[in-house]
Amino acid sequence: MASSSTSRSPVLLPAFDKYYYYSQSVQSIEADVEFIQRIYGEIHPGARAHSLREDFCGTFALASAWVEDGGANRSYGLDLDPEPLAYGKEHFFAQLTPEQQSRLDIRQANVLTSELPRVDIACALNFSYFIFKQREQLKQYFAKNFAALNPGGLFFLDCFGGPKCGEANEEETEDDELGYSYYWDQESYDPLTNEGLFYIHFKRQGEKKRERVFTYNWRLWSLPELRDILAEVGFPTSYVYWEGNDEEGDGNGEFTRVEQGEECDAWVAYIVAVKGR
Ligand SMILES: C[S@@+](CC[C@H](N)C(=O)[O-])C[C@H]1O[C@@H](n2cnc3c(N)ncnc32)[C@H](O)[C@@H]1O
Repeated sequence: MASSSTSRSPVLLPAFDKYYYYSQSVQSIEADVEFIQRIYGEIHPGARAHSLREDFCGTFALASAWVEDGGANRSYGLDLDPEPLAYGKEHFFAQLTPEQQSRLDIRQANVLTSELPRVDIACALNFSYFIFKQREQLKQYFAKNFAALNPGGLFFLDCFGGPKCGEANEEETEDDELGYSYYWDQESYDPLTNEGLFYIHFKRQGEKKRERVFTYNWRLWSLPELRDILAEVGFPTSYVYWEGNDEEGDGNGEFTRVEQGEECDAWVAYIVAVKGR
């Protein structure tokens, strides 16, 4: 017996939105805001940070959440690429009240060559500064950041590493609730330069895998290299925050300050560099 035409109709999925799936897969913006304020209060007991700059901001999700987090908060976002900036204007900026919008300043700019607004908190997250492959270039960026922080200001950088990053590999993370898979694909690694080529792919249930939606050509900087350069440009102190484990031994998203790391195949950590008062 023929089934009804309704039951044969394909489910119409909304148009694929790469920034939506990116943010669902790799960003935890509310947790970032909470983490930043917690660390600022730990380092300067009882104090709260008010101004934040999101370098390499893409869709400036963090800078947007920052102005929502308090009426005294102000933020800046800088990115070279007009495409994610336009997406952020439509999807994040538009959701803010006019008063919140007045405390957010987004600029299409190169963080290496343009003026960096002075702030309490500077962030270079999701490893974006790995794009700088020459030590002098990275040092120039860190020095600009040091100069553009208020006394007592903090510079947040995330970093990843571990032996797994020394070889090609691809990891799939399934999200059953949203009905898609996220793939983190390391295509190559060169031990001579510590450079790696990475891709993000996505696959929605019932659709073909969308390959190479995002591409990153990075140098994998190590924690001691980064802390040495931070010290050279004037940061007297930098702390490392290491991720805890869940019952299965995977990262649990909770980061605490450590004096010693832990051997593991792949790790993610934060460096927080502190400008003296
Ligand atoms: C990995 S995305 C990060 C997006 C977002 N900040 C996040 O946390 O997910 C890297 C971004 O850095 C931007 N970018 C690369 N080089 C830059 C530079 N020299 N100055 C400003 N932005 C840059 C790219 O356009 C891209 O949007």
